[in-house]
Amino acid sequence: MTYEQISEAKAFIESKISQTPEIAIVLGSGLSPLATEIEDQIIIAYKDIPHFPVSTVKGHAGNLIFGRLNNKNVICMQGRFHFYEGYRMDEVTIAQRVFSLMGIKTLIVTNAAGGVNKNFSVGDIMLITDHINFMPNPLIGRNDERFGKRFPSMNEAYDKDLRNKAIATAKELNITLQQGVYAAGTGPSFETPAEYMMYRTLGVSAVGMSTVPEVIVAVHGGMKVLGLSVISNVFDENSNEEQTHKEVLENVDAATRKMVCLVKNIIAKI
Ligand code: HPA
Repeated sequence: MTYEQISEAKAFIESKISQTPEIAIVLGSGLSPLATEIEDQIIIAYKDIPHFPVSTVKGHAGNLIFGRLNNKNVICMQGRFHFYEGYRMDEVTIAQRVFSLMGIKTLIVTNAAGGVNKNFSVGDIMLITDHINFMPNPLIGRNDERFGKRFPSMNEAYDKDLRNKAIATAKELNITLQQGVYAAGTGPSFETPAEYMMYRTLGVSAVGMSTVPEVIVAVHGGMKVLGLSVISNVFDENSNEEQTHKEVLENVDAATRKMVCLVKNIIAKI
């Protein structure tokens, strides 16, 4: 996606909203209910935004929602673009490009992920401390310096200060907050037992099919990132139970209230 195309998408979005949002939020599988908490909503359908793809997965609506959450101007992605849907990486990450050019400083990313850490339970929330990328890097190709530098550091992809704010907020709310490394594969097939075991061996706590490309592009564009996963299923080497997308969505539902509460209260501290 060229700088000019991203600028067109940015200009369209800016023509619909009155102020620059301070925070952008990506709502993952089943986390759409956070959007209902946004006041004075302006809804912009992806299909109306120049160069935006349209998401195809169940549980993923396709809107940007601008408004106020806990007295902060926010813009939410209700539905994200996945590599496994067949989009190119520059399509998967188009919104992060636009957000960074808009001057939005903070990105909160949420997702549903499979737990591989033995101490995790279904419905836990995990603060992403770092990631391991098993997807193609979205920055492959010619680098336009107007977006960011050729070799961006990923030394602190998940901002320390934002992580500390999340930890403090969870404590205040009495919400157990797990922490760990998130690994991203392409999907759409779930992992084999051998793959889940490999992730565990690598020190990964949760695995999913999204988020990492968005984070890389956001960091490339100078944004600070906070990542939170809902643990929708937990790998158990002694069980034959299958992962299903339905199970993922149902388990996320139960944890959504916790997540909504957490994100709302973290925002107050940003
Ligand atoms: N693996 C990959 N992605 C996922 C999983 C999983 O077990 N659960 C939710 N998203």
